[in-house]
Amino acid sequence: MDNQQLLGLIGRMTLEEKIAQLVQLAAPFYEGVDDEGQITGPMQAMGITDSMIASSGSVLGYAGAAGAIAVQEAHMKKNPHGIPLLFMADIVHGFRTIFPVPLAIGCSWNAELAQKSAEIAAREAAVSGIHVTFAPMVDLVRDPRWGRVMESTGEDPYLNSLFARAFVRGFQGEDLKEETERVAACVKHFAAYGASEAGRDYNTVDLSERQMREYYLPAYKAALEEGCEMVMTSFNTIDGIPASANEKLMRSLLREEWGFDGVLISDWGAVKELIPHGAAEDEREAAYRAIRAGVDIEMMTACYVHELPELVRGGRVDEALVDEAVLRILRLKDKLGLFDNPNRGASPEREAEIVFSREHREAAYELAAQSTVLLKNDGVLPLKPDAKVALIGPFARSGDILGPWSWDGSTEDAVKLDAALAERLGPGNPAVAEGCGIEEGTEEQLREALNAAAAADVIVLALGEASEMSGEAGCRTDIRLPQVQLDLVARIAELGKPTAAVLFNGRPLDLHGMYDRVDAVVEAWFPGSEGGAAVADILIGAVNPSARLTMSFPHSVGQVPVYYNHFNTGRPQGAPDAQVRYVSQYLDAPNEPLLPFGFGLSYTTFEYDGLKLSSDKMTPDSPIAISVNVTNTGSRAGTETVQLYVRDIAGDVVRPVRELKGFVKLDLAPGESGTAVFTLNEEQLRYHHSDLSFKSDPGRFDVFVGRSSADTLNGSFTLI
Ligand code: GLC
Repeated sequence: MDNQQLLGLIGRMTLEEKIAQLVQLAAPFYEGVDDEGQITGPMQAMGITDSMIASSGSVLGYAGAAGAIAVQEAHMKKNPHGIPLLFMADIVHGFRTIFPVPLAIGCSWNAELAQKSAEIAAREAAVSGIHVTFAPMVDLVRDPRWGRVMESTGEDPYLNSLFARAFVRGFQGEDLKEETERVAACVKHFAAYGASEAGRDYNTVDLSERQMREYYLPAYKAALEEGCEMVMTSFNTIDGIPASANEKLMRSLLREEWGFDGVLISDWGAVKELIPHGAAEDEREAAYRAIRAGVDIEMMTACYVHELPELVRGGRVDEALVDEAVLRILRLKDKLGLFDNPNRGASPEREAEIVFSREHREAAYELAAQSTVLLKNDGVLPLKPDAKVALIGPFARSGDILGPWSWDGSTEDAVKLDAALAERLGPGNPAVAEGCGIEEGTEEQLREALNAAAAADVIVLALGEASEMSGEAGCRTDIRLPQVQLDLVARIAELGKPTAAVLFNGRPLDLHGMYDRVDAVVEAWFPGSEGGAAVADILIGAVNPSARLTMSFPHSVGQVPVYYNHFNTGRPQGAPDAQVRYVSQYLDAPNEPLLPFGFGLSYTTFEYDGLKLSSDKMTPDSPIAISVNVTNTGSRAGTETVQLYVRDIAGDVVRPVRELKGFVKLDLAPGESGTAVFTLNEEQLRYHHSDLSFKSDPGRFDVFVGRSSADTLNGSFTLI
């Protein structure tokens, strides 16, 4: 339908029917209607009536081809204007085939594989009846206390923007009407949810507009530039106004400055939460502020349904605001082809054929292998082929490796580490013992583990956080491994045997009590359906790890927030003329993180030399070429992620000590050398000035090229 046809349809709708399009209800609201069409279950509590359901615009969290087809067909019979339902769900890192959590995917530094993971997730979701996914989540994160860091790709705006684009391309493809096995994407959470104070979910965010534009907003903008169809509001306040009522953020910036004319949906209950926030006295005020801010769909509360009719009829809200919201929703339904085919890609046959297929699982394996970071290795890895191995820890046999937001994924059919290792090491190897649970243990478990360890040549510890210790509302003030696991590590360390630890977790941890007591550490994150296989192949050396951290690991939570692109301060520690005491430092910890952004080890080694700049001067018309030679000086083939950082020495506002501006991956055989070449131009040096103008300044820049943000060869140039 074209705009005129859609406007004609809107013109035939009553006010109540239009407002019902702005309502999103969870699946049970549709399952709760018994076969006489009578309302049962939670609907009554919200005062949702039959007619509202018949006219509602979208359903959250329904999946399954046959069921979705049935719900849609029943809905189409009841909807007075033949307007189909939108089916939306959180397909964040997989539908049934679960990929590593996005923080792990970020560590792959592989946008192509990230795009492929989103494409596969979209296909499995679309054939199962879903039209829209609430992803990508692109919130920049600097605080590992926050449970949702697992859902982001980390602390860098450049990398987050790269992945945001890749995920949107994978989910949406080129044409949602033609490609019915893709889904519309919904970038979230707008905006700056990752800056929640104290790393506590739903908490206050208070940032300068400049800081937001420089660090927190670029990835959302990148997603929208890639054509992302929807935006979701965040739970937090921005400068004292909750995002769902924030006209400056939603009208002025998102819609007017950025030109976004797609659908804006609130997060779950975020419109009604304007009341506890203290931004509205009651549902009427909440509805008033949200519709004025341009929130098109109210997720899971009924302020619009209850209050908009009176607000419009009483003249406080112009009906045009409702009409524009309805138009955006109907336009999205048309883009998805739902008016031509309300069932779109839903197909029980295709569902049976492609969901959790071998091809999809192989892609999940590959991404897990490229997302797993080798954090330490004193030579115990890869495991020797004939070594007797004891696999010990709460994750030795655990299927809880899918992580939060693993939708239709099943922990039962996740490939577990014990089975994967047994398949590779042969009969009776490894010996397996939990040793303890995630947060509790018994003497019996410990004894069994110590016996297994005593009989082994090498010990692999499988440790970490339960998935519910991460994700939404999974915030922790103590980000160490649970004490019972640290006690297990201590007892195993007393044996003095070669020991490697594998971590399954959703955040950078404080590794005190473990890191110094083992000989190797492998960060697997929540690696998804094929996680056990990918980790096993890294442990035995079938895969040479290549992942690099995209979020810093602090020495301790006391350092948080600690991130690589920080400012220098007026009294930087370690400056040539720095005093001993009166500098920016701690008395009881270093300033640097334990493991920096960009860090990751390999089973081979790489040497860098010959950093060259094509010129020591850059102008807006003459970019400079930067190159460095890298040699694989080890005995195995490996992939090196060569990273390019710059530092603007002096600016209108102070500038970070490092900013990632590019990276090149080199696959090198033993003894082979390669050259990483970058082109750096003036546009990449632009930043938001104190007056919010976005431009570069002439002056000196330092250049850093290396294997992490803290290990580089250095050069400099002048922008004139
Ligand atoms: C949750 C999350 C959001 C998700 C939504 C729907 O509260 O904050 O990321 O998309 O509700 O499940």
